[in-house]
Amino acid sequence: MRIILLGPPGAGKGTQAANIVEAYNIPHISTGDIFRKNLKENTALGLKAKEYMDKGLLVPDELVVDLVKDRLTEDDCKTGFMLDGFPRTVVQAEALDTELEKLDMKLSAVLNIEVDQNLLLQRITGRRICRSCGATYHVSFNPPKEEAVCDLCGGELYQRDDDVEETVAKRLQVYNEQTQPLIDFYKNSGLLVDIDGQQEIEAVFDEIKKALEEAN
Ligand code: AP5
Ligand code: MG
Ligand code: ZN
Repeated sequence: MRIILLGPPGAGKGTQAANIVEAYNIPHISTGDIFRKNLKENTALGLKAKEYMDKGLLVPDELVVDLVKDRLTEDDCKTGFMLDGFPRTVVQAEALDTELEKLDMKLSAVLNIEVDQNLLLQRITGRRICRSCGATYHVSFNPPKEEAVCDLCGGELYQRDDDVEETVAKRLQVYNEQTQPLIDFYKNSGLLVDIDGQQEIEAVFDEIKKALEEAN
């Protein structure tokens, strides 16, 4: 399976990606997670990306594209992959097409998770993430058993720096301007499947599984 998860900030891409990679045994490639990991390790890439992320802006294409291209040539991608948060611009989507052609790989499906803007804000501002394993929670929609503690590993839960209201508004605007055009891009290539992201987490995953059963 070679899958792209498309959708606005807070749609549930990371949440569903975790379910998908477990079910299909493929690597989860989240460019946002890669930048956050780099930042944690204080790399030059992490510090550069932070300048943009904290403002709610996209990291420049040239910093993202090469990183994903390299990642796709790693051994674990031979059986498939789950791209989460990439591509995010038409330039990135075209670069991905070129790279996949070179690798003689075809996409199986592009899942477009749809959620209304007002719900996105609630989802993002209530999100909490595990500092150790990266698991995602929500203070009301998907709370951990014990407050601020990860169910899976006991790690501490934190709020992302870009999950504050002003930055979220900017991220939503940037999504509408730069990423939404990809919906038409993938519709034209016949790969797009719309997923109703406003249901319970498990119901969204059921819809995704059905879509993937019908995909290549
Ligand atoms: P990234 O980390 O990709 O963030 P994003 O796209 O803004 O998406 P989120 O991670 O915020 O949301 P999500 O869809 O994963 O939702 P989640 O599952 O967590 O990118 C961050 C930044 O990095 C960008 O702004 C940019 O600067 C940079 N960047 C990354 N990739 C880039 C690229 N390719 N090019 C350029 N720059 C790039 O769910 C959200 C919350 O809702 C959680 O609390 C969850 O528990 C809850 N939830 C999920 N599903 C449901 C449900 N069905 N019902 C109720 N609650 C739910
Ligand atoms: Mg995410
Ligand atoms: Zn954890």
